[in-house]
Amino acid sequence: MKTFICEICGDAYVGEEKPKNCPFCGARENFIKDGKDANPIVNQEIELSEQAVKNLKTTYDLEVKASALYVCMAGKAKTYEVKAMYKRLAKVELEHAVIATKLLKSDRPVTTEQGCDDEDAENFKKIILLEENATNLYKKFAEEATEQNIKVLFTALSQAEEDHIELIKNYL
Ligand SMILES: [Fe+2]
Ligand SMILES: [Fe+2]
Repeated sequence: MKTFICEICGDAYVGEEKPKNCPFCGARENFIKDGKDANPIVNQEIELSEQAVKNLKTTYDLEVKASALYVCMAGKAKTYEVKAMYKRLAKVELEHAVIATKLLKSDRPVTTEQGCDDEDAENFKKIILLEENATNLYKKFAEEATEQNIKVLFTALSQAEEDHIELIKNYL
């Protein structure tokens, strides 16, 4: 086995091959490096602009909410597969909130509760709207970023949320 490190969340994946997506934050393969070459964004000293601080705080709020929504949806899911998928996505979204707190040098995320529907179909609709909103918002944040690493971060997050939509659409 080898150690691979995600440039976005900084977590290590140990295995034979580099995964196609980071199992922790969902960043795509191109953000995952051989351990010796990794310089994760969360491990860098970044002088954040006011805009970056504002956008990272918005990211935190959105991700904590998304994570809680996935937890609720996991509780209502009709099949084990969907339940397990939602539980994983809840952890991925929480990881996104953790990234924001690391960069903001603030406390670890406080989880909240979020209501959801009893029906999978209604929840699918709700979460797809949320993920689409996140994808577009992070694209905008990437454009607004003056720091190169913050630009990279929001690009990776935007793609990760886009991939969630693709995944969930398989179940519609
Ligand atoms: Fe990651
Ligand atoms: Fe997210």
